[in-house]
Amino acid sequence: MSEQPSPYGAGPQASAAAPGATPSATGTPPVKRVRTHHLREMKSRGERWSMLTAYDMYTAQVFDEAGVEVLLVGDSASNNVFGNETSLPVTVDELIPLTRAVARSVRRALVLADLPFGSYQASPEQAYLTAVRFMKEAGAHAVKLEGGAEMAPQIAKLTQGGIPVCAHIGFTPQSEHTLGGYRVQGRGETADRVLADAHAVQEAGAFAVVMEMVPGDVAAQVTKELDIPTVGIGAGPDCDAQVLVWQDAFGLRTGRMPRFVKQYVDVRSVLLKGAQAYVADVRGGAFPGPEHTF
Ligand code: KIV
Repeated sequence: MSEQPSPYGAGPQASAAAPGATPSATGTPPVKRVRTHHLREMKSRGERWSMLTAYDMYTAQVFDEAGVEVLLVGDSASNNVFGNETSLPVTVDELIPLTRAVARSVRRALVLADLPFGSYQASPEQAYLTAVRFMKEAGAHAVKLEGGAEMAPQIAKLTQGGIPVCAHIGFTPQSEHTLGGYRVQGRGETADRVLADAHAVQEAGAFAVVMEMVPGDVAAQVTKELDIPTVGIGAGPDCDAQVLVWQDAFGLRTGRMPRFVKQYVDVRSVLLKGAQAYVADVRGGAFPGPEHTF
């Protein structure tokens, strides 16, 4: 009897060569990994790059193959994987297995792990110990944390300890209760705060900075003033890079969407159609057919 492929999935190495693999070993040409210095060099050449969230093996493989430079295992897994209403409840122990799955599944993309609420704010030491878990246990290549000038000591500690850090300023979802809900940050006089935060995180050693829900002109000014790349989400077209949550961009999530989301495909409809056809086939006896039967 011929061997069947695993019914439980193929495993990450089935379509992705291990990092550093040679063409002769796998038949797949080697791929150059994206590093933080590549992202900075792209900024200096005026080339834009992209970031998407990913939380599992197959989406990581697809987005990596599509050429997305950075995959963020966001604390948005809280709402998009674990069914919470906000990003606050998700824990380090919940995010580590997701990060590990993504890190095992990419050949080229840089894997960025989000530090969840409560896992880094208390002190630079707490931040370092948490970040080390993501690097050692999950294989992350860098971490992201929310906050501007007030997080400079954490960013400095991590970067000095060998952990690249992406900062996240403007609207920071982990502080939604302090910020009074989902609202644009940096309008009018508060633009200075966004600029000061951006400079502070760069000074502290961040390799990039996400700007969420910041007016386009303010984000453009930050992008012009900083040497490190800026990554916009609701921050207009002038950032060096863009990030979206994949369930928003590809239509798995439904309902009211933030204005900054562009939906590229409608994955939910495709899945729904497939699942309905399956249910109908099982009910009607059309599946399994003779070709599916041993
Ligand atoms: O967790 C996340 O998905 C994020 C992005 C919105 C930037 O932080």
